[in-house]
Formats: sequence, C-alpha cells, structure tokens
Amino acid sequence: MWSPRGRLGVGQIVTAGIAPSRVGYLASLVTSPISRRLAAITDSATLAVSARAAAMRAAGRPVIGFAVGEPDFPTPDHIIEAAQRAAANPRSHHYSPAAGLPELREAVVRKSQRDSGLECAVGNVTITVGAKGAVYGACVALLDEGDEVLVPAPYWVSYPDIVSLAGGVVRTVPATLASGYRVSVDDLEAARTPRTKMLIFCSPNNPSGAVYPRDEVIAIGRWAAHHGIWVLTDEIYEHLVYGDAVFSSMPVVAPETRERCIVVNSVAKTYAMTGWRVGWMVGPPEVAAAVGRLQSHSTSNVTNVSQFAALAALEGSMDSVWQMRVAFDRRRRLMRDLLQAIPGVDAPQPEGAFYFFPGVDPQLALPGRGARTALEVAQILLEAAEIAVVPGEAFGAPGSLRLSFALGDDDLVEGLQRWLALTGG
Ligand SMILES: Cc1ncc(COP(=O)(O)O)c(C=O)c1O
Repeated sequence: MWSPRGRLGVGQIVTAGIAPSRVGYLASLVTSPISRRLAAITDSATLAVSARAAAMRAAGRPVIGFAVGEPDFPTPDHIIEAAQRAAANPRSHHYSPAAGLPELREAVVRKSQRDSGLECAVGNVTITVGAKGAVYGACVALLDEGDEVLVPAPYWVSYPDIVSLAGGVVRTVPATLASGYRVSVDDLEAARTPRTKMLIFCSPNNPSGAVYPRDEVIAIGRWAAHHGIWVLTDEIYEHLVYGDAVFSSMPVVAPETRERCIVVNSVAKTYAMTGWRVGWMVGPPEVAAAVGRLQSHSTSNVTNVSQFAALAALEGSMDSVWQMRVAFDRRRRLMRDLLQAIPGVDAPQPEGAFYFFPGVDPQLALPGRGARTALEVAQILLEAAEIAVVPGEAFGAPGSLRLSFALGDDDLVEGLQRWLALTGG
C-alpha cells in the first residue's frame, strides 16, 4: 500500500480498493508531509535489488548475489579484538569529540602519508559515519542553493542524491564504455558553467572499475584548480587496483588542487568493515571544522567502539588487505572469461574496485524473453536465473549492468552459467 518512498500514489488508492470515505483523507497524503528536498530523493536502486534478492532467498530461492557492494570477507581478527577491548573501556561509553577521537585523526594523518603520500595535519581531518558521511558532510559544508556539481557518469548511486539534499544541482558528465568510462578535461569543460562549484571524482571507480592514469588525474586537477572548482575525490577503493593500474591521489599528483580539495575515504572496503561505519574527510581546516560542527548538531561522534576498531585497522598489518586483493584479482580474471562467453555482453576488464560494468544488448543477452532495456535484463535475470545484478540506470548509465565479484568463486561460476544457459549456450 505504501510506495517505497513512503508516499501514497493516486493509482494505489484506486487499486487498493479503499472505501470512498477514506479516499479524501488518503488523497491528502498525496500532498506529502515530506519536505520537497527529501521527497525528491529516491531509495538506492542497489538496495532495492538486494532487498528483492533477500526476499527471494527468505522464500527459499537460491539467489546468487552479484549486486553486493561490500567485501565478502570477515573483518580481520586483530580489528575485532581491538573493538572488544574498546567495548570494555569506560572511555568508549561516553560522548567523544564530534570530529573524531584525536588518536584516530592522528592515525588518518599517518595513513595518508603512508598510503598515498598526502601530507596533512590533524586539523585537516574529520572522522565521519563512513565515506558516505564524509561526502554528505563535505557537500553540506560547501554547497549553497543552486551551486552546480559535476558528477561523471556512471557514478556511485548516492552522489546525486547527496548533492541534491545539500541544495546543489547535479550536472552529470557522461563517460562511455569506449572511453574506458573515464571523462576527459574536454568533457568536463563542456559541462562547466559560472555556477560550477565542485567536481566529484572517483578512481578506482564504483561502478565501472575504471582507474584514471596519473596524467589524466593531473590534467583534471589542473583544470579544476585553474577554474577555482572544488574537487571531492573519493578514494575508498585506493588499495583495490589490479594488473598495471596505479592509484593516484589527486591532491598529491596535482598539488595545485589542495586548497580546494576534499579527500574522502573509509575503512569499509579496504578492511572489510562496511558495517562498522567509520570514514573520514581530509581537506582545508575550515571545511574539516565545518563538517565537525555539522556532526556536533546532527550525529555527534561516530560510535567509539567502531573508531577504536578503525584505529586498529589503520595502524595494524595490511596482510589481510593484500590477501583479499589477490582473491579479488583471481575472481576478476575468472569472471572476465565467463562474461565473454555470454552473447551481447561487452565486458571491459576492470582495473580497480570489485565490479564489472558491461554494456548489454538485451536481445542477445537474453534471447526470446522480450527484454528491451538493461533494467529488464536485470529483472529477468533475477526471476528466471535467480541471479541478482544491478541495472546501469542506478548509476546514470542505462544500457549496462553492474556485477560485483565480491562473492565466492563457486557462486560466481554457477551464477554466470545460469545466465549462459538462458542464452541457449
Ligand atoms: C565510491 C563509494 N564511495 C563511498 C561509499 C560509501 O562507503 P561507506 O560504507 O564507508 O559509507 C561507497 C560504498 O559502496 C562507494 O562505493
């Protein structure tokens, strides 16, 4: 009866067969009490697919999930043990600074220097509720009503909605499969207007797996600095690069961006800690302080136990990270071979993160089933092959699908064989 966005649609009033006396009251709900700003925000399509897949699993159907956006590995033991110790420490039981535990902020400073060569100080760092909290905080801190934000597409699902929530206007800049899903300075320049305040840059990229080479990061950074455009660079997949691909941090390789650059990161993907909800932003002190202020009036501190766990992650051994990367790389190669066997699927090899983002020809990829769009392909794959993939529409790139390789090798093989079987192969 309730639509996913919590509002009752007129069509639903009619089909629900509600008594006429109730219709007046219910119709008033059509003019929703939800603010215009929030009403414009949609549920994440990735979550919608996962929810449908979970419902099917709960009903006993053997769904294989290629829709997941998180490592399928457990959080390493030494991190869990640190959290257990923190839970027993009375210091964790009370409020702590809204900008983060001082020792975790210091650990982010050391980690930034160690991993990407970024020099910063504690005053540049604010600990947030995941990288998502950092993107949100930075957008609220920097955007005024009507400020335009360039968002290369395909993009991570939440960027446009976060920008809109913060009052900004999204200008998507399409990148194509042919361009390796990377935008050029010319593409960005064509989308720039006098209201352009920010560019959101993500490499390695979710959903495409693209990794921008160093010279392209430099060129984009110089262009942004030249025009006084802020760059929010999302480095959450920095350690998940494969083959010859090398991650480059924009404020390091293009130092001219530093005055207007926000680095976003989190322990989620690197240490298999998505549920712990710890991320951070590194940027000019004024912005870091503003995000801290925002948190002091909204969330307060990130859960102390999680912050201590994140501290153990950043300060501890990276062995588990490298093991996870080896497993992802193996699956990436396995999946490439399997995807190439499916007709109508054009699957470039991702260089980073843990996603394939193939273009699909619906008629070839699912012959005889009447699919006309990638969205319909995803729906049919879920119902007929019991495999969950995310349609490219969720990422501003219709015509494609996102398939994660954060799942076991056996499931991966079986899932893609089920798809191949639907093609008659
Ligand atoms: C590119 C990108 N940025 C940010 C996030 C959010 O990360 P977190 O779980 O740390 O909030 C994700 C999660 O999928 C992501 O893929």
